[in-house]
Amino acid sequence: MARSSFQSPKGIRDVLPEEQPYWHRVEETIRKIVRLYGYERLDLPVFEETALYRRGVGEGTDIVEKEMYTFLDRSEKSFTLRPEFTAGVMRAYIEHGLAQRPRPFKVWSLGPVFRYERPQAGRYRQHTQFNVEALGEIDPALDFEIMSVAYHLYSDLGFRNLNFQINSIGCPECRPGFLKQLTAYYAGRKDDICEDCRKRLDVNPLRLLDCKVPACQPVIESAPRISGVLCDECRDHFARLRTYLDNAGRPYVINHRLVRGLDYYTKTVFEVWAEGIGAQNAVCGGGRYDGLAEAVGGVPTPAVGFASGIERIVLTMQSQDGAPPAPPHPAVFLVMQVPQAGEQVVSLLAELRAAGVDAMMAFGGRSMKAQMREANKRNAEYVVIIGERELADGTVTVKYMDAEGQETIARDSLIGFIRARLHE
Ligand code: HAM
Repeated sequence: MARSSFQSPKGIRDVLPEEQPYWHRVEETIRKIVRLYGYERLDLPVFEETALYRRGVGEGTDIVEKEMYTFLDRSEKSFTLRPEFTAGVMRAYIEHGLAQRPRPFKVWSLGPVFRYERPQAGRYRQHTQFNVEALGEIDPALDFEIMSVAYHLYSDLGFRNLNFQINSIGCPECRPGFLKQLTAYYAGRKDDICEDCRKRLDVNPLRLLDCKVPACQPVIESAPRISGVLCDECRDHFARLRTYLDNAGRPYVINHRLVRGLDYYTKTVFEVWAEGIGAQNAVCGGGRYDGLAEAVGGVPTPAVGFASGIERIVLTMQSQDGAPPAPPHPAVFLVMQVPQAGEQVVSLLAELRAAGVDAMMAFGGRSMKAQMREANKRNAEYVVIIGERELADGTVTVKYMDAEGQETIARDSLIGFIRARLHE
């Protein structure tokens, strides 16, 4: 039976033209900042072998357990639509021998990411990430640089009350000791915590700390803190990062509960929370992942990075008072007063565009009034009218849309005339 209509898949949205000026502004700012910080573009496939994410992101994570779009291709091989970029960046780094390049290897990507999540404001099943990674260095100055890329982006976009949540979640040296303390503490409190936390206790105890269920909050409050058991290297690394942040006057708070939802993190983790994007208020998240390279079959490679969802950036921009970015509008709208002017209008349109002047016309042989209405709706700066008189004299009439008056000029001088005015 034929379906009468279709809708986009649940949790997946269209970005209509009226929202595009925001996206354009974000992308422009991203391009400026990655150039400033020396990051090169890296484009990756939209799907990878499922095992890459299982090993990279981690078996016990929500992403791998519940959220991946996994499918068998026609040769029965299992692939997964990328639920994030980092594992793919590491796969490409190892596969192409990119460790030979100057270190750190600094790259950014932009594109869709897929997670089967429960849709709500700011949380979608397809979202778009701006992802930034720096591979090959353990220096905390690089953690600072990565956080600076995010800071710079959001300040340029005019975000208010910008604040970083930061934490260090240790390394394979010190974390096991902390997890022992944590599980011992929770073992005596199984009755006071939610069902999910009882599972986390076995599968992924670190994530006990970021449970949002009200009943678990007092338990988390009194839980042991990882800062108390960091090894010397992790403690020193975190202290140096904080010194860089302090020296730069960057706003941050140390959040002992920040652990992030992906397994590969070591040492630094951070998020930026923003107002106006619903309950899902992390506009970006990232950190260091010094063990990921080995987990996916490479040699030890320290690395750090972050990703930010463009949809959440746009929601934040929309929730702040600033004027929205101006929608695009043509410099010139061509109007034919009589049907015989049609050929001239089509030629002139091509000439204007070839000269770099953005121009439009009304299609479909509409009345003069309807064409003028469209010029108004499209917010054109100038309307250029060709009627019988203009056809006969080789002229055009230019009408200023934001002021009174019009003037008739030689057709051949139109491009110079418009260009001169656009540069005023
Ligand atoms: P993540 O925290 O899972 O980290 O996602 C990064 C950002 O993507 C979030 O802060 C949020 O802005 C956006 N985001 C995530 N899920 C959704 C969703 N369902 N709907 C809308 N936006 C969403 C990562 O993906 C790591 N790979 C980041 C990273 C890079 N760590 C090191 N390098």
